[in-house]
Amino acid sequence: MSVQKIQKPEGKLGVLIVGLNGAVATTFTAGLLLTRNGFSKPIGSLTQMATIRIGKRIENNFPVIKEFAPLAELNDLVVGGWDISNYDCFDAAKEAKVLNDKDIESVSKELERILPMKGVFDKNYVKNLDGSYIKKGENKYELMEKLQDDIKKFKKENNLNRLVVIWAASTEIYIKEGGVHQNLDSFIKGMKENHEDISPSMLYAYAAISQGVPFINGAPNLTVDIPALLELAEKNSVPIAGKDFKTGQTLIKTVLAPMLKARMLGLSGWFSTNILGNKDGLVLDEPGSFKTKEESKLSVLDSILQPELYPDLYENYYHKVRINYYPPRGDNKEGWDNIDIFGWLGYPMQLKVNFLCKDSILAAPIVLDLVLFADLAQRAGMKGIQEWLSFYFKSPIHSPNTVPEHDLFIQLMKLKNTLRTIMNEEPVTHIDPDIMD
Ligand SMILES: NC(=O)c1ccc[n+]([C@@H]2O[C@H](COP(=O)([O-])OP(=O)(O)OC[C@H]3O[C@@H](n4cnc5c(N)ncnc54)[C@H](O)[C@@H]3O)[C@@H](O)[C@H]2O)c1
Repeated sequence: MSVQKIQKPEGKLGVLIVGLNGAVATTFTAGLLLTRNGFSKPIGSLTQMATIRIGKRIENNFPVIKEFAPLAELNDLVVGGWDISNYDCFDAAKEAKVLNDKDIESVSKELERILPMKGVFDKNYVKNLDGSYIKKGENKYELMEKLQDDIKKFKKENNLNRLVVIWAASTEIYIKEGGVHQNLDSFIKGMKENHEDISPSMLYAYAAISQGVPFINGAPNLTVDIPALLELAEKNSVPIAGKDFKTGQTLIKTVLAPMLKARMLGLSGWFSTNILGNKDGLVLDEPGSFKTKEESKLSVLDSILQPELYPDLYENYYHKVRINYYPPRGDNKEGWDNIDIFGWLGYPMQLKVNFLCKDSILAAPIVLDLVLFADLAQRAGMKGIQEWLSFYFKSPIHSPNTVPEHDLFIQLMKLKNTLRTIMNEEPVTHIDPDIMD
């Protein structure tokens, strides 16, 4: 891959968000407009704020990522999407109660102009929600075709050059990969026969990828992580990425666990619990949706600690994850981690983390980076699973012949080295040059 092959980010880039009226989507959209209008800085966004070292440290060459790689400009993003309630983005941002009124009102005119298209929704897949603004169709295939039409229409009406679709809608119930997901033929047949293992999120993913549009999954649903959609992505040269934005407790977990392993400290138990009162918390209060989230949150520790290689340290640790719906807190999640560890001679110690975070404030910059990087990947001719974007996800999608990387700093190195490589620069290995003499 070489820099000459990356197409320039000419024209406008459409950002179609599934769940346009949700807390994450409105916090992202309002934040984008506030940043664009100079009211705020894009804090938390790597693409906008982080630098990347090029060459040796002594060369002192640290360009900002957005100046190093040919990313779309914030002014060229056009936001749209789908939801199952018919509010405009201004009302939806107020309803989400993440940002204060002053911030929302500063960009009210632009927010009011962003309206959702009717969603494809089925209560069987998100039991704690009701949808009033939804598409009707004979079968799932027909519903998917309506989403394809929406994508074409949005592109034409807004005079867009390219698009990215991102799922920031509610977490669906847990679905295991099954026969219908194994290849494109069985998946298309399954859509026509209304197969129950094909959820609405899969229809959005199919609609996007079939139109040559990158698809990102910010929730833990299976969605695009199935052989049939990977086959479609490879066939249509489309990048895909997911699953589940890595924001609060899992972000902390993927920093602390590598530290324990790096110092060969043992773990006997890790208990993570939190209280959360937004709509996401309500959806996750239902066992089917919680199971999807739980699987995503539980997977990280084993993968980082490798108990099979370090049985003395990690063989029997107890890992528990709880999410408690507690309305008074809204989007202001409070998470507690109690970590029981042991050191020299097996002597026990404890670590306690109390993270008072704002879920959507942590997720919004991730949306921005993923959209810009997925678009870059497509212009660079990168197709299929984008493992270099694992940095942003709790359960990174990976090909069957690799294992997921969860350590945040290895993920960051992988991301930056991928950027260096596609821009024809040397990857940074951190090897002391003297060692080679
Ligand atoms: N905020 C975070 O830190 C974070 C981290 C990881 C993952 N997530 C995931 O991101 C998603 C969004 O989170 P949120 O806090 O914005 O939730 P939210 O409940 O505020 O928003 C979800 C939106 O999706 C809409 N929706 C549901 N099903 C839909 C469908 N089939 N089609 C179109 N719209 C649909 C809902 O009406 C709602 O407006 C959730 O799945 C959540 O688990 C969030």
